Amino acid sequence: MASLFDPFTLKDVTLRNRIAASPMCQYSANDGLVNDWHNVHLGSLARGGAGLVLVEATGVSPEGRITPNCVGLWNDEQAAALAPNVQLIKDAGAVPGIQIGHAGRKASANRPWEGDDHIPAGDPRGWETIAPSPIAYGGGLSKVPHEMTKADIERVKQAFVDSAKRALASGFQWLVLHFAHGYLAQSFLSKHSNQRTDEYGGSFENRSRFLLETLKAVRAVWPENLPLAARLGVIEFDGNDEETLGEAIELIKQMKAEGLDFIDVSIGFSLGKADIPWGPAFLGPIAARVRRETALPASTSWYISTPQQAEGLVRDGSVDLVMLARPLLADPHWPYKAATELGVEKPAWILPAPYAHWLNRYRAA
Ligand SMILES: Cc1cc2nc3c(=O)[nH]c(=O)nc-3n(C[C@H](O)[C@H](O)[C@H](O)COP(=O)(O)O)c2cc1C
Repeated sequence: MASLFDPFTLKDVTLRNRIAASPMCQYSANDGLVNDWHNVHLGSLARGGAGLVLVEATGVSPEGRITPNCVGLWNDEQAAALAPNVQLIKDAGAVPGIQIGHAGRKASANRPWEGDDHIPAGDPRGWETIAPSPIAYGGGLSKVPHEMTKADIERVKQAFVDSAKRALASGFQWLVLHFAHGYLAQSFLSKHSNQRTDEYGGSFENRSRFLLETLKAVRAVWPENLPLAARLGVIEFDGNDEETLGEAIELIKQMKAEGLDFIDVSIGFSLGKADIPWGPAFLGPIAARVRRETALPASTSWYISTPQQAEGLVRDGSVDLVMLARPLLADPHWPYKAATELGVEKPAWILPAPYAHWLNRYRAA
């Protein structure tokens, strides 16, 4: 029976605890390059005590970014800019990871606080979007994407591979494929967004093909001794959940056979009008089912906000790691405070020595 503050080992990587900083877009890069903002953001998360710090959804190609201000890994300059962040995370005792992805039909958008909608046609900041089928997401994201040709599919798979190589060169030790949230990979899997009639659409086998081929190609260049993870939307909350979940579980089993080491259980977000039952740790039981039926180490996120919820999910075996986003934005030292609240002995030892020494001493006084 594991506890939130037990280490977690996967392949050659050991996390100091079961708390992961979930990927969080900062919409603060220029030309895909990280800057001081990202350095402070990621450094804070690592210094606050998380075991794994994941860099935000990083575009494998320029048109794969969600917004013009998203981070990218389509050139070596971007990889070089990430290397100091990697070192900062490692120096603070956390494991550095990165999520790579392609935003598909949700790309070319304004930042969330500037509308969260597609950049209007004719605005030079925007670009043409691509997707499995020419179907717009809807609402503010109403731009109709270009249907990807076979050549587009090959190019994007290669972009994933090249970005994975660059992530390795930057020093990352944990790679996450963004197969969730209605972005490109998820939109191949979902019938809501994929109506192709070739071998990339139609049957479950065909809708899975892009994800499996991408995974396989990345696994071939990502070292065997380092974890390769995926974030998959396993449920859409569209009234067809049993079928979607069943397909997702089958796909995860197939990805496992192709070398996937870890699955982060999330939501599909393939359609705007889903009826999502938001609530504390509400994906916990779904993650537990995925973990049980696939026998793959797993995590989940969404409204896990108290130390007791996080501890409960790990202790009852629902997940191996908890992914936290907003709680860590509100307080990067959430892990240290959780350790204190859960009665971990000398809780500050999860922090780097320049903090830990004083906090443990202060508590002992
Ligand atoms: C500011 C912000 C940026 C996010 N960016 C990403 C991202 O880059 N990739 C991703 O998969 N999820 C992203 N998410 C979703 C989070 O990783 C997380 O799954 C979600 O916020 C639920 O966790 P929480 O309830 O702890 O916030 C983002 C969430 C926030 C709040």
